[in-house]
Amino acid sequence: MNSRSAARGFLAFLLSLPALKGQPGWAVTYTSKDVCALSKSTVDINCTFKFPTTSGNIPNNVSPVEYTPLWYTKGEKDEPENLKEDKAYGDRIEYICEGLSCDSSSCNGMCTLRIKELRKEDSENYKFRFITNTVKGKYSGVPGVTLSVTDQVKVSFPSSTDPTGENMECHSMCSPVGGFKYNWFRNGQYEQQGMYYKVNINSQDNYSCAVEGYKQLRSPLVYAPRTPSVTVSPSGEIVKGSSVTLSCSSDANPAANYTWIKEHEDSGGRSGQNYTITNITSELRGNYCCQAHNAIGHHNSTCFFIEITSSSQTTAVAVGTIGVLLATILLLVFLWMRTKRASRTSGQGGRPDPMELLQH
Ligand SMILES: *[C@@H]1O[C@H](CO)[C@@H](O)[C@H](O)[C@H]1NC(C)=O
Ligand SMILES: *[C@@H]1O[C@H](CO)[C@@H](O)[C@H](O)[C@H]1NC(C)=O
Ligand SMILES: *[C@@H]1O[C@H](CO)[C@@H](O)[C@H](O)[C@H]1NC(C)=O
Ligand SMILES: *[C@@H]1O[C@H](CO)[C@@H](O)[C@H](O)[C@H]1NC(C)=O
Ligand SMILES: *[C@@H]1O[C@H](CO)[C@@H](O)[C@H](O)[C@H]1NC(C)=O
Ligand SMILES: *[C@@H]1O[C@H](CO)[C@@H](O)[C@H](O)[C@H]1NC(C)=O
Repeated sequence: MNSRSAARGFLAFLLSLPALKGQPGWAVTYTSKDVCALSKSTVDINCTFKFPTTSGNIPNNVSPVEYTPLWYTKGEKDEPENLKEDKAYGDRIEYICEGLSCDSSSCNGMCTLRIKELRKEDSENYKFRFITNTVKGKYSGVPGVTLSVTDQVKVSFPSSTDPTGENMECHSMCSPVGGFKYNWFRNGQYEQQGMYYKVNINSQDNYSCAVEGYKQLRSPLVYAPRTPSVTVSPSGEIVKGSSVTLSCSSDANPAANYTWIKEHEDSGGRSGQNYTITNITSELRGNYCCQAHNAIGHHNSTCFFIEITSSSQTTAVAVGTIGVLLATILLLVFLWMRTKRASRTSGQGGRPDPMELLQH
């Protein structure tokens, strides 16, 4: 390394110094480290920042002092990716930044990042960086603000062990319990207020709740399972000794649990979406029905009848078919040979062939 490139290296080192942590007089302060917001709503992430107007012995003689704001989630603090250029945000994003107020020693500013139409994917750590026109003028405020976007509000079932599903609870991940007021809706119509829904729950109906003042932010609907559908694999003939899987599925919220029941059988049934029967015996022949259930209600599937073909039966059928085929061929060959012989003998004045008699 010659002395010139060494000097250039040193200069580069000097210029990069301001980006190092702990620059005296430089700071970004966020109002809060963690922010929670409802999806589809708008959030403001606020910060204030300051920097000295002089840098040690190097005088600052730019006027006016200006800065360029930048918010980022990706990239190193020295090479951040400006959110304004991130297609995932598009025009949902806005920088609301005020001018600087400077005195002889320092400048102060304020900048807000506004994100509209929040999505779950916006849950990130947001950092503010500013670049000034003064000497050594770059700074990133790390760590930034962690934003959690939650799926609006949710209906939950505090007593899920209670089979009657006596009540439902409305809550938002954002607020401490009781921080919001809630409204309840049945089949889309306003029904009552409060954190809990205590009226008898009807399995024909659907329910949702919302934070008061945010009617457009309803929880996903909860409802009893729809008619479940049953699939069987492998499809086709079920042979003794083989195995088969019955699978049941139903649209439901909350997700359904499943029970398989064999008709005319007293045992409680099998729980689980998929019911695999191995080593099938003829006693397993019968009608299998599935029931989908959740806290709101339950629904039965149409049943599937398992008919069991024993493998020996199959062989017998196969042997039988081949036997019939062989016999038919033999008979045809026999008839053909007889016809041939008959036509030959009739030419010699023998007894007339019955086939020939028929032709006359
Ligand atoms: C940002 O500031 C505005 C008003 O200045 C306030 O309403 C809002 O709650 C603040 N946001 C955060 C995340 O603190
Ligand atoms: C909920 O109930 C309303 C009113 O009965 C009905 O129009 C809507 O289709 C239902 N939604 C679902 C997902 O069942
Ligand atoms: C049941 O089987 C289906 C495919 O047949 C599969 O997608 C599903 O995840 C299985 N469910 C469980 C609970 O194993
Ligand atoms: C299948 O069931 C039969 C009759 O119960 C039994 O003899 C055989 O051992 C079983 N085979 C397997 C693989 O479990
Ligand atoms: C569904 O099954 C899960 C786990 O097995 C259980 O915790 C839950 O209470 C069940 N829900 C209903 C409605 O049976
Ligand atoms: C669904 O199946 C269960 C178990 O076989 C039965 O007790 C219940 O009456 C059935 N419900 C309906 C609506 O058919």
